[in-house]
Amino acid sequence: MIIGVLKEAAAGESRVSATPSTVARLIALGYAVIVDADAGAAAHFTDEAYAGAGAEIGVAAGADIVMGINAPSVQQLDAMRSGTTLISILGPASNPALLDDLAHRGITALAMDAVPRISRAQSLDVLSSMANIAGYRAVIEAANAFGRFFTGQVTAAGKVPPAKVLVAGVGVAGLAAIGTAGGMGAIVCATDPRPEVADQVESLGGEYLAVASADTEVSATGYAKEMSQDYNARAAALYAQQLPDTDILITTALIPGRPAPRLVTAPMVAGMRRGSVVVDMAAASGGNVEGSVPGEVVVTPNGVTIIGYTDLPGRMASQASQFFGTNLVNLVTLMTPGKDGILELDWDDVVQRSITVTRDGEVTWPPPPVQVSAAAAAPAPTAAAPVQAKRVVSTRRRFLRVSVASVVLLLLVAASPAALRVHLTVFALAIVIGYYVIGSVHHALHTPLMSVTNAISGIIVVGALLQIGQGVPAITVIAFVAILLASVNVFGGFAVTRRMLSMFSKS
Ligand code: NAI
Repeated sequence: MIIGVLKEAAAGESRVSATPSTVARLIALGYAVIVDADAGAAAHFTDEAYAGAGAEIGVAAGADIVMGINAPSVQQLDAMRSGTTLISILGPASNPALLDDLAHRGITALAMDAVPRISRAQSLDVLSSMANIAGYRAVIEAANAFGRFFTGQVTAAGKVPPAKVLVAGVGVAGLAAIGTAGGMGAIVCATDPRPEVADQVESLGGEYLAVASADTEVSATGYAKEMSQDYNARAAALYAQQLPDTDILITTALIPGRPAPRLVTAPMVAGMRRGSVVVDMAAASGGNVEGSVPGEVVVTPNGVTIIGYTDLPGRMASQASQFFGTNLVNLVTLMTPGKDGILELDWDDVVQRSITVTRDGEVTWPPPPVQVSAAAAAPAPTAAAPVQAKRVVSTRRRFLRVSVASVVLLLLVAASPAALRVHLTVFALAIVIGYYVIGSVHHALHTPLMSVTNAISGIIVVGALLQIGQGVPAITVIAFVAILLASVNVFGGFAVTRRMLSMFSKS
């Protein structure tokens, strides 16, 4: 069979649904590939590169299988034959007229934006791969408009505090934004009604801000439901409290099949500092932020820049095309069991059934519901129970540990000679204070923290070297252990620094 790769008809679309490398993979599956002239030009893929990968440059719409990023134009549809299989983003929920038209034309249409969120379908999930790029790009756009450092700096010319970034909505785009902003040195906080994302936020070095409402609950689908008035009121209070101190706000909140939830109102934006930046990633679907305009950059009277770009993946066109093209190759691989260039639609396969929106002249959307497994189903929680239960357990455990440690310390102090008592007490207090101080240091400040601990370790080594020759066996043993542990820290610090530096070495 022949696969056609369309030149995108939508104005401003810079992506293409296949790159020379994905074309080579399609050919390896037994297909012939025809690419529209200049299809990849805006993403920096030349016709020569496609020809070099084995494609023919011609009229893609005449092929047996037609691939695109967006729904084809009417002219492109007119050039397709009945029986063609079309694979692209189609927005089936919001485009019933398009589905009727496709069915009427006898086109079998596979909507890539209808891939169910199940682990098996992850490799085909174009929405996730595009949202990942968009989350990254949102931070880059914000940094550009912000015009100040993200990372804190201490220079001879003055001190600069790190930028504070708040991410609202911790799905695919939100996680990418948290990782990117954290990687650039900002202090990142994030909020989401699904408490199960707290660990993910923290693993990326961010701080999870919980909205204390009975409405939060572990999601079994990976998507949030529409939130209650109580949740929204408490979330609004959180934003109103956080935003005056936030430099960059990135909103990604989405509830599938609904207009974007409004999280931030105009008065909240008016409360932000001059020079702050808001990126409303949901601008195209109604906006999370009052005052955002799809595709535009708006500057409010108090000097806050609101970015409403709807083409964030297209701003990184070559990589977005590569990801999209790879998702399509994965779908075609799934649908080519014989690796013989023959596409077979398996109606019993839940993924293929879910994305097929027209077949044999019929509209087959919506598909039957899919049992998704993005997260383990909540174990029958009572309202607001899951997070609190976890907290109760950990508080009890902590109390138990502190009690045991206190008793052990008391016994040690009681049993030790008078001269050692004061040192032992200071030592124990130092452990407790150190634990809480170091535990509260933000990830972004771990490098300076390492320098401080190295300096302390140096002092310990010197102190222990002075004590080791006292001739008292107990002191010798303690001094030896102190030298050993402090040396691990000092030399470990050197080893880590060396590894970090070698990442930048040219060889
Ligand atoms: P996702 O479904 O993975 O994540 C959405 C997150 O929003 C979920 O974690 C959900 O729990 C959270 N959420 C729902 N209601 C909320 C509320 N009231 N408050 C806070 N969080 C809430 O979606 P994904 O793929 O990360 O996409 C995020 C947004 O980015 C979508 O609106 C999508 O359309 C948009 N997008 C925009 C692009 C652009 O160029 N501007 C490109 C790609 C995606």
